[in-house]
Amino acid sequence: MKVVVTGRIPAAGLALLHAEPRLDLVAWDEDLPIAREQLLGFVHGADALVTLLTERVDAELLQAVGPQLRSVSNVAVGYNNIDVPECRSRNVIVTNTPGVLTDATADIAMSLILMTTRRLGEGERIIRSRMKWQWGMFYLLGTGIQAKRLGIIGMGAIGQALAKRANAFGMEIAYSNRGRVENSIEVGLDATYLSLDELLATSDVVSVNCPYSPQTHHLIDAGALATMKPTATLINTARGPIVNEAALVEALDNNVIANAGLDVFEHEPTVHDGLLGRENVVLIPHLGSATIETRDAMAMLAARNAIAILRGEPAVTPVI
Ligand code: GLV
Repeated sequence: MKVVVTGRIPAAGLALLHAEPRLDLVAWDEDLPIAREQLLGFVHGADALVTLLTERVDAELLQAVGPQLRSVSNVAVGYNNIDVPECRSRNVIVTNTPGVLTDATADIAMSLILMTTRRLGEGERIIRSRMKWQWGMFYLLGTGIQAKRLGIIGMGAIGQALAKRANAFGMEIAYSNRGRVENSIEVGLDATYLSLDELLATSDVVSVNCPYSPQTHHLIDAGALATMKPTATLINTARGPIVNEAALVEALDNNVIANAGLDVFEHEPTVHDGLLGRENVVLIPHLGSATIETRDAMAMLAARNAIAILRGEPAVTPVI
């Protein structure tokens, strides 16, 4: 059996694959993602693929692998880089890594809320630019988050973990979701279910935590931004294209909303020029799951999925 790992993953994941008898392991070993043309040759003959979110797994790639392919294990919770129906039509099982990156990603969302509302990026830039500065009563004032409403779009595991953190900071929690979460979760988080329109219109901070799909493409567009408070903050730690970046820039230009904190971008790794020069945005390079512990756990879970499927056992975390 041949497993092809299409990008660099932590040794903990590779070790599990290495330990599996009768398994031939081929792993891309460079920091930069493999070029598409090279990838198409690299994956040839694989029985299982372990992929990163930078690789597009579509009909062309699946064709290049060959009909023996049994599984694609994405080392990410999001799997919008994978054409799942196409995999299904070829009897290829797709797995992701839910659960193990929940806390790390919620930590990043909470960090962005604090960085953005307290203007931490601006402060850092001032000091690093060696600009003269002086403590002052009115110097670089942000806004407090206590008793402010956090509107969470997508109340899955990460949304709930963010709500827990925001609760501890004294925020009031509202959420919108495809359906209501269990009553015990709502009660535990003191969270109010709202329609997306209500959530956008009444939240001081709006955090995007839903998966990316054709249904959520540009969910936050000019119209959605227009319904937000002019004092509102937009946070996105999910996927870039859920927010129309051009519309966001325009909204920031016209004071339609106050500021934004982004970990993901519509055309990653390119960032819209209109965001780069602004003081009222915090921009970080897709770091949601970027802790050593989390990346180890993600790689191990992806490896366990690939091994289980090759052994003919049920996948640990198949995508539904
Ligand atoms: C990271 O963005 C992930 O989906 O795991």
